[in-house]
Amino acid sequence: MRNLTQPDLVLLAFAREAQEKAYAPYSKFRVGAAVYTADGETFTGVNIENAAFGATICAERSALAAAVSAGYTDIAAVAVVGDSTAPTVPCGCCRQALAEFNPEMRVIMGGQRDDVMVMTLDELLPEAFVRGYLDQDENA
Ligand code: THU
Repeated sequence: MRNLTQPDLVLLAFAREAQEKAYAPYSKFRVGAAVYTADGETFTGVNIENAAFGATICAERSALAAAVSAGYTDIAAVAVVGDSTAPTVPCGCCRQALAEFNPEMRVIMGGQRDDVMVMTLDELLPEAFVRGYLDQDENA
């Protein structure tokens, strides 16, 4: 666990605001996310469910898609807020997707209570499979 900073709270507020736009008619579990880029830009996303459940996209990956689509690939932090009482943690698939863009990014997690959890992505996903593994020379 890391100490909560003022910028963490700002990013969390973006995620909380985005959460209102979640499209979750099936699970009713609304999630909002916000990514903060190294350039100081913020992009938000929500979970977008689908009648074909497997086509659902999580909030973290939808925020990531917004950032990358706008040309920002250097991600410093991500905040996620879900409908759980305790802080909502990113699912395994989102951890992997985020690791592509910075395995050491800050992850700020909130729920419906006031307590907030702050960790780094490599704490949440140790030994992530990253692009270096695809390069035979870096594979050792
Ligand atoms: N969900 C997210 O948006 N992010 C996560 O990290 C965990 C799960 C969404 C997917 C689905 O719409 C709902 O929460 C219930 O699993």
